[in-house]
Amino acid sequence: MSKKTPWISIEGVDGAGKSSHAETIVNFLKDEGYDVVSTREPGGTELGERLREEILRTDMALSTEVLLSFASRAEHLDKVIRPALSEGRAVVCDRFTDSTYAYQGGGKGYPLSSLLALETMVHGGENPDLTLIFDLPPVESLRRLGGTGKDPDKFERQDRKFFEDVRAEYLSRAQNDPGRIRIVSSEPPLPEVKENVLVELRAFMARFKNDNKSSFKI
Ligand code: TYD
Repeated sequence: MSKKTPWISIEGVDGAGKSSHAETIVNFLKDEGYDVVSTREPGGTELGERLREEILRTDMALSTEVLLSFASRAEHLDKVIRPALSEGRAVVCDRFTDSTYAYQGGGKGYPLSSLLALETMVHGGENPDLTLIFDLPPVESLRRLGGTGKDPDKFERQDRKFFEDVRAEYLSRAQNDPGRIRIVSSEPPLPEVKENVLVELRAFMARFKNDNKSSFKI
């Protein structure tokens, strides 16, 4: 039996600073002895990165946006995530299906039942072992986004109501799946958030090793 390795995804509204914590997570897993694949959605593969450009920049029907997000994900799972996990590597994924529920579902009103049907079709029960949602009130995330000076994509140009709805969907998902999803507040200063991330990672790792004891013995 090959050793089961962790798959962690990170989520949050734009401007919540999740990308700054990806490195902390990767380093933590490396210190635990894992070879780590760091990847992102939309994207993560050559085709997925092309789809990302379209999803982020092109005005399209909402169902097209949803289908392209899942198309990018199917490719990502097939070419990157599944192979990495089966070769015994850990995976850190910057956004995954929770983003589609939060942005296209919560933010834009795409029916959650249809998202569930697509999720079932593309990855069923294959989900990250841990999802950290970096949470920030939209008034603050929009303030932080405004200060980056980079050309905003289609999502970053949305108004506060949109981000309130995205956030509400994230929080609802966390409430419904507390075993996988953990909320990390992005409000405190960065070093404090980093420490809270490490607390979550240590607790997760202890659970993960315990749940997979038999594969760790081999
Ligand atoms: P993000 O990952 O935050 O990249 P960057 O830090 O470079 O801006 O941005 C990706 C955007 O795509 C973000 O606004 C959320 C959006 N998104 C969706 O709307 N649906 C999805 O399924 C995914 C994966 C992302």
